Amino acid sequence: MGRPSLLTVILAAGKGTRMRSSQPKVLHAIASRSMLGHVLATVEQLGSNNTAVVVGPDMDSVRDAALADCPSASLYVQEKQNGTADAVLAARDVLVANDESDVIVLYADTPLITTETLERLRQALDAGAQIAVLGFEAADPSGYGRLLTRADGTVTAIREEKDASPEERQVTLCNSGVMAFRLPGLAQKLAQIGNDNAKSEYYLTDIVGLTVDAGGKAVVVKGDEDEVLGVNDRCQLAMAERIWQDRRRVEVMRGGVTLIAPETVWLAYDTTFGRDIVVEPNVVFGPGVSIGDNVIIRANCHFSGAQVGAAATIGPFARLRPGAILSDDVHIGNFVEVKNTRIGAGSKANHLAYLGDGKIGSGSNIGAGTIFCNYDGFFKHLTEIGDGVFVGSNSALVAPVTIGDGAYVGSGSVITKSVAANSLALERSEQQERPGWAEKFRALMSARKARAKKA
Ligand code: UD1
Ligand code: CA
Repeated sequence: MGRPSLLTVILAAGKGTRMRSSQPKVLHAIASRSMLGHVLATVEQLGSNNTAVVVGPDMDSVRDAALADCPSASLYVQEKQNGTADAVLAARDVLVANDESDVIVLYADTPLITTETLERLRQALDAGAQIAVLGFEAADPSGYGRLLTRADGTVTAIREEKDASPEERQVTLCNSGVMAFRLPGLAQKLAQIGNDNAKSEYYLTDIVGLTVDAGGKAVVVKGDEDEVLGVNDRCQLAMAERIWQDRRRVEVMRGGVTLIAPETVWLAYDTTFGRDIVVEPNVVFGPGVSIGDNVIIRANCHFSGAQVGAAATIGPFARLRPGAILSDDVHIGNFVEVKNTRIGAGSKANHLAYLGDGKIGSGSNIGAGTIFCNYDGFFKHLTEIGDGVFVGSNSALVAPVTIGDGAYVGSGSVITKSVAANSLALERSEQQERPGWAEKFRALMSARKARAKKA
C-alpha cells in the first residue's frame, strides 16, 4: 500500500519583534539562505511538492521569497495572530482539498529540522498514529509546551507552560512545534479548538487532546534539541548559524576537504567542494561558490559567487567576488580582488591587484599592484588580456582595453590603448640620472642646517 501524498504547512506569520528588525524574522539568513528558504528546501528534499506557507498581512517580502524559493508554493494570509491553530486554518482551503494527504506543520523560524527527522514522523504515521509530534528533552523546558505521555509512550495532550500545573511543569519532554498528521477531517477538527486558555489563543497543540479523547493515537518522535531550536532573537540566530555550520563542516570534511580549523571556516548553504582541498583558518564562503579538486585556500580569504578550478592556489587574504571564474592551476595571491573576471589555466596574480570586469587568457602573469580600471564613474568596461601576457607591476589598465597574446606591459604603465600581440607597451616618462647629485645635495643642506643652528 502506497503512502498518502504529503502536504506541508509552514507557519511564517509571526512578526518576530524580538529580532528588532525592519525585515520579517523568517527572512533573516543562516548560511546565506533565509530561514524560510531552509525549511522550504528541507520539505522539498522530503519529496513534498505541495507546500503552503502562512504569512501575516503586509508580508509581501515573505511571499516573494517563498515563491522565489518554491514557485509551486501556495500562500495564505493569517489576518490576526490568534494562535498556531488559527494559523494552520488560514490554509483551510488546501487542507480541505487534500483531506487524504499526510500533513506536516512546521515553523519557518525553526530552520534546522532535517528531512531524516521529518521522515521519522511519517514512519510513525505509517505505524498507525494519527498524530506524530516531534518532541525533545529540553535542558531548560521553560516556555515550551510539555508533552504529557502514557507509560507506553503515546501522547495524551500537550500542555502549554502558562496553562500547566506545577507537576506538569516538571516534565522536560517538550513540543518542538513540528507535527505530522494522518487525520482526515483535520480542518474541521482544528475548527473545534477553542481559546479558553492563558493566552486566549487557538492552540494547534490542543488537537492532540481532542484526537486522543476521540480514540485516536498520538505519538512522540524524539529529536535533538539543537535541531528544533526556534529563532526568536539575534542571539538564537547566531546559535542556529553555529549549529548549521558545525553540521555542514563535518559533512564537508567527510567529503574529502581538510579544514585545519573547522570552527573558523564559514560555509554557505550551496558551497560545493571537490576532493583533496585544504582550507586554512578564517575563510568565509558566501553564496554560489564552487571549489575544484586539489585547491589550496590559504588563511583569511573571502569568496562569493566564484568558481575555482582544480589545483588552484588562493590567498592568503584574497577576495573572490561574483563572476570570478578561475580555470585550473590559477594562482591568486595576497590582497588580490577578482570580480566578474575569467582567468585561464595557469595564470597568476600573486600580489595586490584588482581584477574587475575582465578576461585573462592562460599562462599570463599579472604583476603586483595591477589595477583593471573598470569604472569611469558611470559605466563599467572590459579589460581583455590574452594568453602568455606579462603585465608589469603597478600597471593601470584603463578599460575598455585589450592586451594581445604574448605582449609585455612595462611596470608602472597607464595603458589606455590596446596593445598588439607580442609587443612591449610602455607608458611612463623616461628615467633621468644626474651623477653625483646626491653628494652635492647633502653637502649643501648640511651647511645650511649648521648655519641655522648658530643663528
Ligand atoms: C509553540 C507551541 C509550543 C511549543 C513551541 C516550540 C502552540 C500553542 N505552542 O509555542 O507547544 O513548545 O511552539 O517553539 O502551538 N504563529 C503564527 N500565527 C500565530 C501564532 C504563531 O504564524 O497566530 C507562528 C509563529 O510565527 C511561530 C510559530 O507559529 O513561528 C510558533 O508560535 P509561537 O507564538 O512562537 O508559539 P509558542 O508560544 O512558542
Ligand atoms: Ca516560539
